[in-house]
Amino acid sequence: MNSTTRKFIFHDLQTVEGYIDPPDALVFLSLLQGQQGRALDGGIAEIGVFYGRSYYLFRKICGPDAKLLAIDLFDIGKTSDGVSLQYSRFLENGRRLGLEVDENLIVKGDSTKLTATEIREKIGEVRFFSIDGGHMLQHVAADSRLAMDSLAKHGVVAFDDTFNPAWPEVTVGVADFLRERGSEFSAFCMTKYKTYVCRREFHEFYYGMIADAPDLTAFDHVETEFLGSRVARLHNPISRRMVYELMVRSGMSAFSERVYR
Ligand SMILES: C[S@@+](CC[C@H](N)C(=O)[O-])C[C@H]1O[C@@H](n2cnc3c(N)ncnc32)[C@H](O)[C@@H]1O
Repeated sequence: MNSTTRKFIFHDLQTVEGYIDPPDALVFLSLLQGQQGRALDGGIAEIGVFYGRSYYLFRKICGPDAKLLAIDLFDIGKTSDGVSLQYSRFLENGRRLGLEVDENLIVKGDSTKLTATEIREKIGEVRFFSIDGGHMLQHVAADSRLAMDSLAKHGVVAFDDTFNPAWPEVTVGVADFLRERGSEFSAFCMTKYKTYVCRREFHEFYYGMIADAPDLTAFDHVETEFLGSRVARLHNPISRRMVYELMVRSGMSAFSERVYR
């Protein structure tokens, strides 16, 4: 297991306001390190940065030299003189955590206006693409097209908020995508919040990577069928989630990592 990165996930990362929780952070860790261990290179792209919780996870795992492209409207708390409080807080989180931000690779704008060529020009082909921006059907349709057209052969796409009843159009968008491009792409892993997709020829490879990942042994791996492919559904029992929440709320986040061993 990766004790330093796990400590970061369960403690430091929790100080950044945002949405990736430890189970998905451990999946990101397992996939990114699995790729690195096999020299499967490429850039990292993220749509939907918010205050940087996933961004700083990528930076921690992949290091200061990784080409990490971050795309967000950065319009939360934007003042009339154009200053974005969201962007200032995102940068401040990096300074506080001691992690780099490459501002040349920050895109402040609407992801649906970007092209795959622009992404490839900035970071080359993408080995890991996280989609967590606009949550309506047109956003998911455009963002998934962008991801597929910039993805390396061995790349992975993580869709956030799939099957979340608060965002039904994300579910529709991901299902549409898998039904339209199902001959090329398939899902290989699902958590409570995210669905992970890769090219069909890499399906068994990534399915196996999840099955063998030392940082994912705490979860029940349930084999599930989804639109023509075998998916590892990582089940996280409510009892564990409750113990974890209690520990975090009582100021014991530094020890909460043990719940997920
Ligand atoms: C749920 S938050 C992302 C959370 C983040 N991934 C994390 O780990 O904490 C969604 C973000 O998507 C951004 N967003 C919404 N629509 C967008 C669009 N069309 N293009 C780019 N970013 C967008 C919002 O500004 C917001 O910061």
